[in-house]
Amino acid sequence: AMRATLSRVTGLKYFGTATDNPELTDTAYVEILSNTTEFGQITPGNSQKWDATEPSNGTFTFTEGDVITSLAENNTQLLRCHNLVWYSQPPTWVSGGTWTNETLQAVMKTHITTEMTHYKGQCYAWDVVNEALNDSANFRTDVFYNAMGEDYIRIAFETAAAADPDVKLYYNDYNIEYSGAKATAALGIVTKLVNEGVKIDGVGMQGHYIVGSTPSQSDLITTMETYTALGLEVAYTELDIRMTLPGTDTLLAQQSTDYENVVSACLNVADCIGITVWDFDDKYSWIPDTFSGQGAACLFDEDLNRKPAYYGVVSAL
Ligand code: XIL
Repeated sequence: AMRATLSRVTGLKYFGTATDNPELTDTAYVEILSNTTEFGQITPGNSQKWDATEPSNGTFTFTEGDVITSLAENNTQLLRCHNLVWYSQPPTWVSGGTWTNETLQAVMKTHITTEMTHYKGQCYAWDVVNEALNDSANFRTDVFYNAMGEDYIRIAFETAAAADPDVKLYYNDYNIEYSGAKATAALGIVTKLVNEGVKIDGVGMQGHYIVGSTPSQSDLITTMETYTALGLEVAYTELDIRMTLPGTDTLLAQQSTDYENVVSACLNVADCIGITVWDFDDKYSWIPDTFSGQGAACLFDEDLNRKPAYYGVVSAL
């Protein structure tokens, strides 16, 4: 019998995954990554970020990013481009620089324009501003905010719209997918842009969750619909559901239910257009490096075998 796969035709525009350059030497991994019956879309996990693309002021290098974008193109997979302005992983010349509103604005505009021009025609969407809010739902007081105030967000989107009018422009963040102070603050950012007539097309909900603590389906749906009511699309851009290690059969079964639940929420919202997992396998997931003692967050295990979570997603699709 034919096995159901992730990118079987559904109500979604795509089901995709993040990937990263170092993993591409693993041929068994690349074979699954490139299988378009599983993944119709790819996001570069690191190689389009500011530190990777403009390591010193005005010096641009797209070699690593191009490896991933060419792979997606050769595989006929959609590409989500990630990201242009983010407090994390800036080059030190940006984070450690001495800036005025004017000087940092010029540098940010050059970065956005140069990178978007390089990738013009290749991206379905760009994450223009990533994670502008901290966990207390205030603006992060990063180098951008400190120099330009919250206006950096508007300036970034306007610059992006001018650089490539054909690509979808997204605000992307985590813990904004369910009701709470951070969701309210994110809605505030997005609503302000919409009301000011600034081009924004979508909201990316990262979806980094914990097994057994995923938000309820109704909360996810309600939150997404507040954005789609503004005329925007939404997508899960970085979905993974982690657990405290070691994983047990009980945790893996709960994880399967959790994935099914989150994927179903997107399918229940007309303008939830796609789902991207933040890599598809526990072998290369970012989770163990970032959250000590946690992992096993993905659809495939460390040996690239399908987990119960994979089948949970398939049954939701
Ligand atoms: C992560 C990458 O996967 C890691 O390899 C890197 O060390 C740190 O960043 N939110 C985002 C992504 O928007 O860019 C992050 O990716 C994960 C959290």
